Amino acid sequence: MQKIIIINGPNLNLLGTREPDVYGNLTFTEFLDSLREKFPNISLDYFQSNIEGEIIDKIQEAGPVFDGIILNAAAYTHTSVGIGDAVAAIESPVVEVHISNTFSREEFRHSSFIAPNAKGVIVGFGLKSYELAVHSLL
Ligand code: DQA
Repeated sequence: MQKIIIINGPNLNLLGTREPDVYGNLTFTEFLDSLREKFPNISLDYFQSNIEGEIIDKIQEAGPVFDGIILNAAAYTHTSVGIGDAVAAIESPVVEVHISNTFSREEFRHSSFIAPNAKGVIVGFGLKSYELAVHSLL
């Protein structure tokens, strides 16, 4: 069975109540249940942290264990050399995702320290971005 992990960064624990006009009304747990139902033959793990170092630790740990990583580093996407370096350091493919279309938002959201080392980037399709990312790893 293919093993994929979703790693979410800061404030994504607030999905469902956080800026619903931008991020929607669904909690990530509700969404994850439906995603697992859509991919019954894939093992889908999930990790969320608001702490940069914990995200780096998880990427390092996941590298040798998972067949693919779906990473929404949230605000750290635009600031974290450390998370970008962690993605470069591992072998397993990383797909960068964003719920909102970061390119239609403030200019500081247009850059990513992850994208140069990611397999690809999926941006702006709401929570469906994660589903598209799973497809891209199959
Ligand atoms: C986000 C976009 C980021 O710019 C923002 O800081 C987030 C969420 C997204 O999924 O749309 O927290 O990564």
